[in-house]
Amino acid sequence: MLNPSDTITEGYEVLLYIDHMRRWIKKVKRGSIFGSDRGSLKYDDIIGKKYGDKAVLSLGYDVYLLRPLLIDYIERGFERKTQIIYPKDLGFIVLLSGIGPGARVLEAGVGSGILTAVLANIVRPTGKVYGYEIRKEFAEITMRNLRRLGLEKYAEIRIGDVKQGIDVKGLDAAFLDLPDPWNALEKVYEALKPSAPIIAFLPTINQVEKMLSAIKEDQRFVDSRCYEILLREYQLVEGAIRPKTHMIGHTGYIFFARKVLRPAP
Ligand SMILES: C[S@@+](CC[C@H](N)C(=O)[O-])C[C@H]1O[C@@H](n2cnc3c(N)ncnc32)[C@H](O)[C@@H]1O
Repeated sequence: MLNPSDTITEGYEVLLYIDHMRRWIKKVKRGSIFGSDRGSLKYDDIIGKKYGDKAVLSLGYDVYLLRPLLIDYIERGFERKTQIIYPKDLGFIVLLSGIGPGARVLEAGVGSGILTAVLANIVRPTGKVYGYEIRKEFAEITMRNLRRLGLEKYAEIRIGDVKQGIDVKGLDAAFLDLPDPWNALEKVYEALKPSAPIIAFLPTINQVEKMLSAIKEDQRFVDSRCYEILLREYQLVEGAIRPKTHMIGHTGYIFFARKVLRPAP
């Protein structure tokens, strides 16, 4: 649960930031000690400080006490047991979908709930993410991840196969991250509002081809597009600012189309 206060409080989380590599989300617990190769810190000594304050570790290094952002949870905090959608793709997926507070959206499969958390954060306080996940243990991980941020109120996860049917209608967007989204097209069409987008995340070009064929054959979606996002981070070393040596080479393709009102062929 995110701390509603600007003051560091027992039971809430704090991002302990020493440097880019040394940053951890930790729950503040009276009587406990945080340890690292840069020294230790008694949580008692930071209770009552403000997020943004600094503390000094036992070996003399500074540690900044930051309020964790959603991206910190995605990169360092959430439990994950499945392949996930990466931050570089998540931002563009949300923009493409056009959703905002109050939107009601479909997501399948939910996996570890990384996209679910991002969507829930966008649609709150009055919208909802309706998720389908065939594996109960993954749905449970998702709910645990959402609860950490108090986002569970904005998601309902069904254990089931999205291809068998969707029990909600009039949805503002559909997000599919499963191996064969083309087999869910009929059910997704029925669940979406006219004009609403479908967005599929596809790791291979072979899947993109199958998705495109299915969309063309169906004839009830238009404006098909496909994107790949490449994100290059820079090393910020004074006098040697340049792209980092390593980058994420490939995650997946983002496929987009919109529902139109037309009879099935
Ligand atoms: C790659 S993971 C999704 C990861 C998720 N987007 C995230 O960011 O954490 C794919 C998930 O789809 C689920 N899945 C596969 N086929 C499905 C289906 N027909 N209906 C619902 N879920 C399905 C799998 O169990 C798996 O958890």
